[in-house]
Amino acid sequence: MRWPRGVDGLCFGGDYNPEQWPEEVWHEDVELMRRAGVNLVSVGVFAWSRLEPREGEYTFGWLDRVFDLLHGAGIAVALATPTASPPPWFSLAHPDALPVTADGTRLLHGSRDTYCASAPGYRAACRRIAAELARRYAGHPALGMWHVHNEYGTTCHCDHVAASFREWLRRRYGDLATLNDSWTTAFWGQHYSDWAQVHPPRATQWLPNPTHGLDFRRFWSDELLAAFTEQRDVLRAAAPDVPVTTNFVLGDWVPVDHARWAGEVDLVAIDHYPTDAGPGAEEQTALWADLARGWAGGAPWLLIESAPNLIHTGGRMHAKEPGRMARHSLAHVARGSRGAMFFQWRAPPGGAEAYHAAMVPHAGPDTRVFREAAELGAVLGRLAEVDAGRIEADVAIVWDAQSWWALRGAHLPSPDLDYLAGVAGVHRALWRSGYAVDFVAPDGDLAPYKLVVVPGLYVVADAAAAAVAAYVAAGGCLVVSYFSGIVDPCLRVRPGGHPGAFRDVLGVRVEEFQPLAPDATVQLSTGDTGSVWSELVHPTGARVEASYTGGRLDGLAAVTRHRYGRGTARYVSTRLDGDGLARLLVAAAEEGGARPVAAAPEGVELVRRSGWLFVFNHAGVECEVATAGVDLVTGADVGGRLRLPPGGYAVVREVGLYGRPTIDTRR
Ligand code: GLA
Repeated sequence: MRWPRGVDGLCFGGDYNPEQWPEEVWHEDVELMRRAGVNLVSVGVFAWSRLEPREGEYTFGWLDRVFDLLHGAGIAVALATPTASPPPWFSLAHPDALPVTADGTRLLHGSRDTYCASAPGYRAACRRIAAELARRYAGHPALGMWHVHNEYGTTCHCDHVAASFREWLRRRYGDLATLNDSWTTAFWGQHYSDWAQVHPPRATQWLPNPTHGLDFRRFWSDELLAAFTEQRDVLRAAAPDVPVTTNFVLGDWVPVDHARWAGEVDLVAIDHYPTDAGPGAEEQTALWADLARGWAGGAPWLLIESAPNLIHTGGRMHAKEPGRMARHSLAHVARGSRGAMFFQWRAPPGGAEAYHAAMVPHAGPDTRVFREAAELGAVLGRLAEVDAGRIEADVAIVWDAQSWWALRGAHLPSPDLDYLAGVAGVHRALWRSGYAVDFVAPDGDLAPYKLVVVPGLYVVADAAAAAVAAYVAAGGCLVVSYFSGIVDPCLRVRPGGHPGAFRDVLGVRVEEFQPLAPDATVQLSTGDTGSVWSELVHPTGARVEASYTGGRLDGLAAVTRHRYGRGTARYVSTRLDGDGLARLLVAAAEEGGARPVAAAPEGVELVRRSGWLFVFNHAGVECEVATAGVDLVTGADVGGRLRLPPGGYAVVREVGLYGRPTIDTRR
């Protein structure tokens, strides 16, 4: 991963849209940025219509002045290509490049993201504006990073897409016979006899073909990636020493396989907007920050957008409590982010996101939010050394976008098979139990981990299943949850009893699924309860650790443990409620030799980045944590005990035995 050029220390700043304001405001902006310690701003994200008001006519003068002004203040620019918002003239000149929804409606400009990423006219216009920006700014000393597009994620179902989809399918399957077999088109007589009959999934009368839908998401992730890489290559050619990135948007509607994209950016950068106003926001932060680090292969990455103040939840905006902006930002830094950036610098004068949070709110700089932003800037300025730190996790969760996408299918045995909720539940249980957690791809390197958890890995390839088994055989400790390993990458059910891909390693054979009604629970012999799911499990070598009690599965296996080679593999056939999942995972972790970060009081979060201990007191009462060293936030020596008020936070450069730093802090 590479760093923005010219940024010394951790990145701090946000999206800056000077085109929305008269020039006098820019001077105040830059003065306030200096006060707040801003060192990097994303510029030009949606400025296409200001940069090219008519086709081929460029107006760079204003942007030149913005660059010079920022450079004079020592602030680097992450210059965006504005391709997420083509100007109205573009839509009228290229009506075929307007996006078409699955039900055939063609959209028109009036918002943003109104383009089809497969349309040749759109792609050519993107390359052109990227080349013009590269020509003009590649040599400017303020240029720190290229920020391509914004949040790749929109879809389209038009004829350009159909043509491109067919090409992708030809490359994947070679011939129609293989496609027919892979999509199980024998079912409901969907057999294709000519490539021209294959379309993007469009509105259908009844349930659509699930493999068709999954392949479309795979294709579209690749198509958007091609749109990204062709802009990236234009920019790289002009300025090889300036890193290129794009901001990853999160959410299960996103047709982008981030793990795959991570290999194509110079710096993994995420936008993160928790949707829960309560403690769920901290859980979401821990989850997505750990995921981002996983995509970055353990290297530092960047929180490039977040909300300084408001949490949008259920159509309402929740004002963050004092101090939460800093804790939220630093919890990302603790997990490897190389700073904290916001959407957005100044609240816009109007428009669709007029009420979105900003570092400089409508009420101006004499506000709590601006003061907190400036305080955060000052704190980040004192934390540059943590960039050398790495998170060392004994535990890994397997993450797979394909299973996430596939579990969105409407044809599955229960609507409650929620991939993200399953992953989040495992992550939460481990996080609350004090374990550092990495995310790995199904075919990633599992060997470094003492415990590997596989939640809801519905789709799995033979090679990945074999790698999981090899990990256990070599002495690893594995936990697999229900509805994993059921189908191959074409969504063909693995025959012979579930979970086909993991039967041997788990030593079980599942004869029958028994999904539960929304409010139903099952009792287990351990006293735990389960919900969402249950099944008829036959141990074929595994030992029963917990059985169902009462009901149709009375006395039959619910949780099993199997010795396999030199390791052990547990299977959990229901969703364990309450503390049940945490107890099971901690037992497996201890058996595997995984150790928690440190003991933390309730509501207190500890994250260790090499020798720096981040402490967040999310609880409503003062807390005390045993640690020795200097708190970089206050500069004080904490002695052997750190005390934090409710909502407080600290970053302790820990000293080990005999007062020596536990790590070498020289960079
Ligand atoms: C995303 C976008 C921004 C803005 C914010 C609002 O992160 O990139 O342009 O729309 O969401 O939450």
